[in-house]
Amino acid sequence: RRKVTTRRLAEMKQRGEKIAMLTAYDYSMAKLIDEAGVDVILVGDSASNVMAGNVTTLPMTLDQMIYHATSVVKGVTRALVVCDLPFGTYQGNSKQALDSAIRIMKESGAEAVKLEGGAEIRESIERILCAGIPVVGHLGLTPQSINKFGTYAVRAKEEAEAEKLISDAKMLEEIGCCAIVLEKIPAALAKRVSEQLIIPTIGIGAGGGTDGQVLVMHDMLGINKGFSPRFLRRYADLSTIINDAVAHYVDDVKTSDFPNASEQY
Ligand code: KIV
Ligand code: NA
Repeated sequence: RRKVTTRRLAEMKQRGEKIAMLTAYDYSMAKLIDEAGVDVILVGDSASNVMAGNVTTLPMTLDQMIYHATSVVKGVTRALVVCDLPFGTYQGNSKQALDSAIRIMKESGAEAVKLEGGAEIRESIERILCAGIPVVGHLGLTPQSINKFGTYAVRAKEEAEAEKLISDAKMLEEIGCCAIVLEKIPAALAKRVSEQLIIPTIGIGAGGGTDGQVLVMHDMLGINKGFSPRFLRRYADLSTIINDAVAHYVDDVKTSDFPNASEQY
């Protein structure tokens, strides 16, 4: 159980070993998924959706991300911990981007940050990298730009957007990013990008040609029943398990079955 580092991610791609990444937002779940062997744990700003109940990721604050990342780091011994920079903490201002990334690294103990976008945020990424902070890129469907896109549909189906994505990916590699998340783009495009890069790509809804996969933990564990895009594979039905357990508990309390004689002092 060797510790996963950014260097090891590069080695995994060279060896052809796929990278398994999953999100986590709290100590207990991070500990469980780390022990189960996940390589990279993403403290995603999807916390906005699955933890805070917001419709988009935009409301997430830096303090909230640091709270989640701090909790996750305490539960992890092997996985590489990556933390999202939330909306409004890095776009259009490289000094602010650097300050935000430094706060995450210093206060939470995360080992890398992730930022959404390509050429538009190049200066911000470069400045963060200059401080010795590893950066994971994120291209394709970038949920912090949902108001620009107007839809969560597949990105880069058209040639022009696909070309921009390829040039952004090459740029991210050139300036020194350690990996790139590719979200909801055609599988053929994701495969092409992955083959052209030395750094690993990690896909979500981007097919099997990427160097790794990432899913939102609540989605793959079946905690939120309502969300079922084509790319999602459900590995458990926790919503049913939790509902049954809680209904059983309520029933036991109502009928005075719980606690019994051996469950008291
Ligand atoms: O916030 C998140 O969970 C993410 C993944 C979907 C890549 O950015
Ligand atoms: Na995110």
